[in-house]
Amino acid sequence: MPGAVKVAALVHRLADQEIRKSPTVIDFDRRTNNFCEEVVPSEHEDMGAPLRGCGRAIDRSGSTVHVLPKDTTMHHDSERPHNNSVSDPHASLVIRLRSAGCVFAEEEASILLERANGNSILLDRLVKAREDGAPLEPLVGWVDFAGLRLSVGPDVFVPRQRTLHLLNITLQELRRGSSTRRRTFVEAFAGVAPLAAAVSATLPGIRVIACECDSSALHHAAINLAEQGTVCASDVLNGLPSADRQGIDVIAAVPPYVPDGELGLLPREAREYEPLAALQGGVDGLRWVRAVISEAREWIAPAGLLVIELSERQLEPATQYGRALGWVPEQTEQDDDSLTSVLALRADPHTAR
Ligand SMILES: C[S@@+](CC[C@H](N)C(=O)[O-])C[C@H]1O[C@@H](n2cnc3c(N)ncnc32)[C@H](O)[C@@H]1O
Repeated sequence: MPGAVKVAALVHRLADQEIRKSPTVIDFDRRTNNFCEEVVPSEHEDMGAPLRGCGRAIDRSGSTVHVLPKDTTMHHDSERPHNNSVSDPHASLVIRLRSAGCVFAEEEASILLERANGNSILLDRLVKAREDGAPLEPLVGWVDFAGLRLSVGPDVFVPRQRTLHLLNITLQELRRGSSTRRRTFVEAFAGVAPLAAAVSATLPGIRVIACECDSSALHHAAINLAEQGTVCASDVLNGLPSADRQGIDVIAAVPPYVPDGELGLLPREAREYEPLAALQGGVDGLRWVRAVISEAREWIAPAGLLVIELSERQLEPATQYGRALGWVPEQTEQDDDSLTSVLALRADPHTAR
């Protein structure tokens, strides 16, 4: 695989959300068809990121190819395999990262070298941070989402690859039918605005708005939208331009949806490095899901669509909540590769504007 593609593929994997309860069983990454570290799928959606850090790796056939305990300490130079390429910065970095337990050491080395851009002091700082368990994406400042290199930082939620499923449903809807007026898309709970950025890159004719309450996330969202859309400081939807009432064609949301009691089950990268407000969804995880279902009625256009990413077991109660408020639930294709689901709610076509 050419270097750039390899790097993008790794950042894809690193940014993905995986379901895990405790690091005791080997799992296989079906999306990448590749090995991954030890995980146990949890019955709930946990907002964590996979394949960072250490663990036992398995190859495509499922055999264990590499075992690195999570608390592996650095090898002394004398213990390292003899290798003529140690003078090669990439090769020595791979050895260092692998010693720290990084499963995708080769690809990470390429990403870190690219980020350091010849600055050895910066490179050393970045590698030390990785060795201490800091996630890769905020360190290097970007994540790949739908082929876009999106800006992220240390204090924001890193978009997950499984949200591509919600993106596909959103794009399908926005491509459907024709309209005499310019159609409007809103990403609610936008974070760094992965959906809004991908919609504006794919369908430039669509008017795009990203709304979010956190100022750091809004900063990255503005960079990612690069003036191809509007960024809106907003509490749920309260902050959208009032002219958009009952005029938004599609609203897509990845609200915080981890039940309070399950926050402790999140992977360390999410627990320690992402803001709690981006993850915490109340007792049943549905606090913000209900809020957007309720508030969207005021903003959605007649026959418009609200699509929400949530966990599989939240789908039924959220569907019932939507139905009770007058939405018509629609069947969507579920993503077989993850335990997340997408709830699609259609607005009444006869609501007057
Ligand atoms: C799970 S993250 C999703 C971010 C982005 N959509 C993505 O997929 O990467 C949820 C986001 O909702 C934001 N948020 C939490 N409570 C909010 C509220 N009351 N109003 C607006 N945004 C909120 C958080 O700051 C966070 O960026």
